[in-house]
Amino acid sequence: MRIVLLGPPGAGKGTQAVMLAAANKIPHISTGEMLRQAVQEGSALGKQVKAVLDRGDLVSDEVMIALLRERMSKQDCAPGFLLDGFPRTLPQAQALDRMLKELSKELTHVIEIAVPERVLIDRIKSRGASGSGRSDDTEEVASKRLKVFWELTAPVIAYYREAKRLIEVDGLGTIEEVASRIHAVLS
Ligand code: AP5
Ligand code: MG
Repeated sequence: MRIVLLGPPGAGKGTQAVMLAAANKIPHISTGEMLRQAVQEGSALGKQVKAVLDRGDLVSDEVMIALLRERMSKQDCAPGFLLDGFPRTLPQAQALDRMLKELSKELTHVIEIAVPERVLIDRIKSRGASGSGRSDDTEEVASKRLKVFWELTAPVIAYYREAKRLIEVDGLGTIEEVASRIHAVLS
């Protein structure tokens, strides 16, 4: 399986991805986690992206596409993968299509977790309040992340919808309810 999980910040992509990847024995590739780890390690990449993450902006397509290309070339991705947080812009979606074409492969499922705006900020804020340690889990930065989502990532969802590749899943309800909806579309 080669799965992409789409949806706004706070939709539950990370939460669902962990369970889905384990159940399907495929690597969970979270570009946000990769970047946060780089920041924590203080690597050259981490130093380059820290301020961008703190502001809630997107890291450049050039950096992200190179990062994903390298990650996808690893052996563990041969049986499949689950992308969480990539693609986030149209150029990233087009680059992913090209990367897969080179491998003569295609995405098997593009899933959008749909959650109304009013719920998202509350989820992110309460995670910040319970000590997530994420510098972008404040109301101010979460609002910025949502704005960026509407500007740059919503067109990615439209891109897959127009290509009739998009599966929309209702992201309201308990974590287990959302998981079983995703399970149903995968089987
Ligand atoms: P990233 O780490 O990808 O952040 P995000 O995915 O946008 O936002 P979240 O992780 O907050 O949302 P989520 O959908 O994963 O929800 P979660 O499961 O955590 O990116 C961070 C930053 O990295 C970006 O801002 C950007 O700077 C950079 N970046 C990353 N990828 C990039 C790219 N491709 N290009 C450029 N820049 C990039 O859930 C949220 C909360 O809700 C949790 O507390 C969870 O417990 C709770 N929750 C989950 N499901 C439910 C439910 N059903 N009911 C109630 N609560 C729930
Ligand atoms: Mg996440």
